Amino acid sequence: MTMHAPKLPANIATPAYVLDEAALKRNMSVAARIKSEAGCKILLATKAFSLPAAFPLMRDTLDGTTASGEYEARMGHEEFGKEVHVYSPAFFPGEVERLTKIAKHIYFNSAEQVRRYLPVVKKAPGVKIGLRINPGYSQATLGGPLYDPCAPFSRFGATRDTLDDVPWDEVSILHAHALCEARHTGSAGLIEHVAKNFAPYIRKVDAVNFGGGHFINKPGYDVDALIRAIKAFRAEFKVEVILEPGAGLVVDTGYLVASVIGIHRNEKDIAILDASASTHMPDVLEVPYTPHIIGADIVEPGTAPARKHSYILGGKTCMTGDIIGEYAFNKPLSVGDHVIFTDMMQYSFVKNNTFNGVPLPDLAVLNTDGTYKVLRSFGYDEFRRRLG
Ligand SMILES: Cc1ncc(COP(=O)(O)O)c(C=O)c1O
Repeated sequence: MTMHAPKLPANIATPAYVLDEAALKRNMSVAARIKSEAGCKILLATKAFSLPAAFPLMRDTLDGTTASGEYEARMGHEEFGKEVHVYSPAFFPGEVERLTKIAKHIYFNSAEQVRRYLPVVKKAPGVKIGLRINPGYSQATLGGPLYDPCAPFSRFGATRDTLDDVPWDEVSILHAHALCEARHTGSAGLIEHVAKNFAPYIRKVDAVNFGGGHFINKPGYDVDALIRAIKAFRAEFKVEVILEPGAGLVVDTGYLVASVIGIHRNEKDIAILDASASTHMPDVLEVPYTPHIIGADIVEPGTAPARKHSYILGGKTCMTGDIIGEYAFNKPLSVGDHVIFTDMMQYSFVKNNTFNGVPLPDLAVLNTDGTYKVLRSFGYDEFRRRLG
């Protein structure tokens, strides 16, 4: 995807994750259209993007947040301030009781978990119970089985054969998360699959949550197809529909700005950055994928790039595989040059670590009026504090 360079300060401190406010507003307008035309709720999955400073830009559009456990739920409650939903495949001792004080929608992983926690939830008036099912809907998705909640032996959700054991009178929400970076065919396919295969159970609940993985702001995603699928589902079952995307709400809304700190040669030119795949872009290694850089081409193996100056880019950690990719630039790289990775808001800073004592990048915002604001810088203290 071609992207124009954002107007960043020439003396920007790097590495820095930079949220582009204008891009986030653009994404929010797509979410607003889906909500109003499909008549559904949309929550932010904070596991993908936990940046409280951005919540004021999202709060008016979205219905709330969905959490993976107590800490995210607490952040959603304190910083976002609307509905808080939470799901976990299992909970820590005491966690559900504490959650009932801040989350009105708690989702369990099985009939056994619903029964186990029913007495705790019953003590908290107004808390609704959700049940995550494993819909058995595997799409060819990003990362294959690594990111497929319906992969063989998945620990996520009650399988079809266990659903008659569920105390349905106690369950208000059926939850079916099965997607990852899915286009509209995946979203509509999941909705139709659940309608076709789980109708008797849908008729026992008030709401169906189709999870995350709807890549609604990715170019090529046909939002109208999603809206049609939700409307058809609502018309058939007369239930509330909830979506809880993370990545799809913040895709292409920010950057990781890095600097070249060294150049090495070993048959090829290698530029070492102050950002690292291992510490700052773990998905590059985990998925794996190669992120785009503004003004550079990704060098595909066996191809001759149009730009002439190729470099392998890597971090300064000791991990040999801490390689971001191979890129071609218009001119040779020098120490001090900036490199801007695009699409770096989801599953990036939420997964950071300080392996090798590599500093954490700044968190910053590029406002619509062009001002650049650093929200937080991290130093040695952050590294030391976590080591006890
Ligand atoms: C239960 C659940 N809901 C929502 C999400 C958000 O998914 P995404 O960020 O791909 O939209 C995830 C991601 O793993 C999830 O497990």
